[in-house]
Amino acid sequence: MAKLKIGICGWGNVATGLYEQLINGNEFYSDWEISCIGARRDNSRCNPGSTKIIRDIFDVVKEDIDVLVELIGGVETARDLITEALNSGKHVVTANKAVIFEHGEELINLAIKNNVRLLFESAVCAGTPTIKILSNDLSANKISKVAGMLNGTTNFILSKMEEGASYADVLKEAQDNGYAEPDPSLDVNGTDAAHKIGILSALAFNSGLPAPDFYIEGIEDIQPHDFIYAEDFDFTIKHLAVAKLSAGGIELRSHPVMLNKNSSLAGLKGVRNGIQFDTDLLGAFHVAGSGAGRESTASGLISDLHALSKSPEILPINYPDFSNKPNILNFNDLIFKFYVYLEVKDEAGVLALISKIFADHSISFDKVIQKDQLENSNVPVVIFTDPIIESEMQIALEDLTNHPEIFNFKIIRIEDL
Ligand SMILES: NC(=O)c1ccc[n+]([C@@H]2O[C@H](COP(=O)([O-])OP(=O)(O)OC[C@H]3O[C@@H](n4cnc5c(N)ncnc54)[C@H](OP(=O)(O)O)[C@@H]3O)[C@@H](O)[C@H]2O)c1
Repeated sequence: MAKLKIGICGWGNVATGLYEQLINGNEFYSDWEISCIGARRDNSRCNPGSTKIIRDIFDVVKEDIDVLVELIGGVETARDLITEALNSGKHVVTANKAVIFEHGEELINLAIKNNVRLLFESAVCAGTPTIKILSNDLSANKISKVAGMLNGTTNFILSKMEEGASYADVLKEAQDNGYAEPDPSLDVNGTDAAHKIGILSALAFNSGLPAPDFYIEGIEDIQPHDFIYAEDFDFTIKHLAVAKLSAGGIELRSHPVMLNKNSSLAGLKGVRNGIQFDTDLLGAFHVAGSGAGRESTASGLISDLHALSKSPEILPINYPDFSNKPNILNFNDLIFKFYVYLEVKDEAGVLALISKIFADHSISFDKVIQKDQLENSNVPVVIFTDPIIESEMQIALEDLTNHPEIFNFKIIRIEDL
């Protein structure tokens, strides 16, 4: 390919970050040309100079470009735009995990049919190399587990809460810094990480993309006191997404966890993402780096553009075998150790009652501590359980609601990494 002609669609955080990198950055971009930008409105943050601006993003497809970079986010319009580009013989690079998770099979098949590339390195962990590493560099390995902190905003919020900041203040700071997704609820409710682990699961286990009905939980209920109690036992709290291959199928989940502070992922703070791949040849293999933000995402996008400009005839990743439908295990059948937080009435016999409820469901305790009285005169009780099946823990929690001496309760699953 002579000069790589690029059309950028969207003109928000990531698109302007990419533009600035391409204009000001490395020498090897001199072989590339930003032919046009599809921006439905100007962005005061970035002056596109004399670059052609097209107000209807679908008109970008009609321009003389080799690759369309989709940076509008969302699902259905992005799917239509990518479809039109691929059908018009244009390569597509996207940072959009939602569209890859929901329509990846259809879009990749379309790319193959039209003999063009659909690349999405920055859809997982932004610029931190993940997709190409998993797809190429680990290809000799059998992967048994992928466990990752895959959402930069969530890790940013949890890290700041660990230092004592409030949830609402930190979420605003993440939005102001451009780390949060266009809809930040997708970050904090675990959906964004779920999309990413779904994509990684397909690549790691060479299967189709999973249906979106696996277990997803966000960080909205995590409180500052959970960090204090976690610390007492050398744990910290992170949001983790896991894909694990078992004899019966794939364990897939996205939820907060308590991690031992010695775990390699526990020390990652701020917008850093990290993944542990359990492999047969390399053992545990880790990647970590910035997982959000305009510069980091530009880095991943540029890696895809570089692959296209260097050798467009070579597919830089192995697409998964979509005919191999993944069998996702029932979350209720999985076994975890749990942190259980309860607020109870400060009266005799309540601890014995709690012990009986859990014993009735065959749940034994590793540790129990009763903390000092709260301002509302209730007493917090913190329990770390031995391993127990999820469904049994849910029944025990339901049982707790029948007792007026027990007020709030919450669980966080403990992950051994
Ligand atoms: N932010 C990150 O750190 C990060 C990291 C990795 C991946 N990503 C992914 O990168 C993509 C872009 O994220 P972002 O943070 O740049 O979002 P953003 O700041 O909200 O930018 C989105 C841009 O797309 C435009 N747009 C949205 N829908 C459109 C439509 N139907 N027609 C025309 N233009 C449309 C928006 O225009 P208006 O301003 O007019 O709405 C805006 O210019 C997303 O897929 C996101 O998941 C982001």
